[in-house]
Amino acid sequence: MTRETIINGDDDSEDQPAQRPVVQPSEVDSDLVAEEPAAAVDDAAAVGVDEGNLRPGRMAEMIGQLEVKERLQIAIDAAKRRGEALGHILFDGPPGLGKTTFATVIPQEMNVPVEFLSGPVLKAPKDLIPCLTNLSAYQVLFIDEIHRIPKAVEEYLYTAMEDFRIDMVIGEGINARTHSFQLRPFTLIGATTRAGMLSGPLRDRFQIREHLGYYSDVELQQIIHRNASILKVKVDAPAAAEIAGRSRGTPRVANNRLRWIRDYAQSRANGHVSLEVARDAMRMVKIDHLGLDHQDRSYLEVLIRICGGGPTGIDTIAATMNVAPDTLTDDVEPFLLRSELILRTPRGRVATPKAFVHLNLPPVAPVETKSGATQRTLFD
Ligand SMILES: Nc1ncnc2c1ncn2[C@@H]1O[C@H](COP(=O)(O)OP(=O)(O)OP(=O)(O)O)[C@@H](O)[C@H]1O
Ligand SMILES: [Mg+2]
Repeated sequence: MTRETIINGDDDSEDQPAQRPVVQPSEVDSDLVAEEPAAAVDDAAAVGVDEGNLRPGRMAEMIGQLEVKERLQIAIDAAKRRGEALGHILFDGPPGLGKTTFATVIPQEMNVPVEFLSGPVLKAPKDLIPCLTNLSAYQVLFIDEIHRIPKAVEEYLYTAMEDFRIDMVIGEGINARTHSFQLRPFTLIGATTRAGMLSGPLRDRFQIREHLGYYSDVELQQIIHRNASILKVKVDAPAAAEIAGRSRGTPRVANNRLRWIRDYAQSRANGHVSLEVARDAMRMVKIDHLGLDHQDRSYLEVLIRICGGGPTGIDTIAATMNVAPDTLTDDVEPFLLRSELILRTPRGRVATPKAFVHLNLPPVAPVETKSGATQRTLFD
């Protein structure tokens, strides 16, 4: 393969497994092209080895997200009929709701290969460019945590996504030349838990944007029954309902609970998960009936018992719990907010009456001061 064919991507091997472009470091700016796509991560690692066997392999096996599935199915059918690459797709939503799962099943439905990349490892253009030039026609490129791509790398995606082309400056000073690399048509699937952190130009280049929301208890029960049969454990219907109710609307959490309960049942109850066994197993790991874990309750304890229900700054709560404030804002507070147990106010965090009830404490009634601010009396 000559350098010219590499640059233009017009060798006739589109249907063959693509070869890595052999580019001599002396030929081009070494910052721009690496021999191996260093950012490519192992497929199994990208999808999570542990989750692999519970991850649905086809769209039909996926439970819930009905509207998202229907829209994607239409786009997939149409792309297949036209014989074109599927439009670029962006998935956003909280962790564990199926972004990577969708990125795994879509290539299956399209019958094309997929390459997994992750935003944090795409540190420089040289980490991305070999992956792009190497994509075979209609292939899917999945970039997880796409909001963490640096700007310098992101800019290469703009033309790649829009025109299947990348423009590179090769050489320096008066010898600098811009070369256009023609790419084969491909589909970029991006996933992010922070859609707001994506730049406008990148976000607008995705033809399909899907937000994944939380699952209903009924959908989680179906997931638990499906996965119980894969894990070869018998779960009674009331037990599945109990596990679903404590799974925070999140399939990954339901899977983790189910795995622990299976271990518990095999060790203590001949492998049969009755309602009682499910409750005992979750009591042992301190998961309560709302799905709160030990750390969630410690947060509420600090806010209510020590800070009188707030308003309290996040740094105060974090220092008292001896954890980093980021851990609380990223991992603990989202579920407490969603469960209406706390409020985030400009003056700090406040426990809601529901939080007092949950901890079996009498709610504190806020008292209006003259200035309009709320204050608690000594005797509340
Ligand atoms: N619709 C679904 N039906 C059945 N199981 C699902 C579904 N969505 C997710 N799961 C299960 O939940 C697990 C976690 O999903 P996934 O890895 O796709 O989440 P994610 O959105 O990519 O999370 P993260 O933001 O942390 O990467 C999967 O391994 C799979 O077992
Ligand atoms: Mg994921």
